[in-house]
Amino acid sequence: MRPFETKTNPENDSDNHLTTVKLADVKEGELLSMTISGEPILITKVNNRIKAFSAVCPHAAGDLAKGSYYKGRIDCPDHGYRFEVLTGRPLWPEDEVCRLRFFKILEENGVVKILLS
Ligand code: FES
Repeated sequence: MRPFETKTNPENDSDNHLTTVKLADVKEGELLSMTISGEPILITKVNNRIKAFSAVCPHAAGDLAKGSYYKGRIDCPDHGYRFEVLTGRPLWPEDEVCRLRFFKILEENGVVKILLS
């Protein structure tokens, strides 16, 4: 997990997307951790798709930024839930219904922008 410095209040573009990181900085197998407008966010690339999601675990608000990430799967440090980052669904426990909360992505001019809503 690589922490990433971003502006506390990044500029909005005309569609209210917020600039996060350069597209070239997002790599397969690596999570970037950042806080934007008070929202803890993780960004990575899985199967060549950029994914941005809340670092707050949907089970009981654990800090996913302190979890472990391997081959597109993230384990929460609090109760061990495992999520598939491509889909957001839990792999363990199997019958759990909570999902990762994704943010919409816009790739524009070599940067990754997200919509916080
Ligand atoms: S808070 Fe993440 S598994 Fe419980």
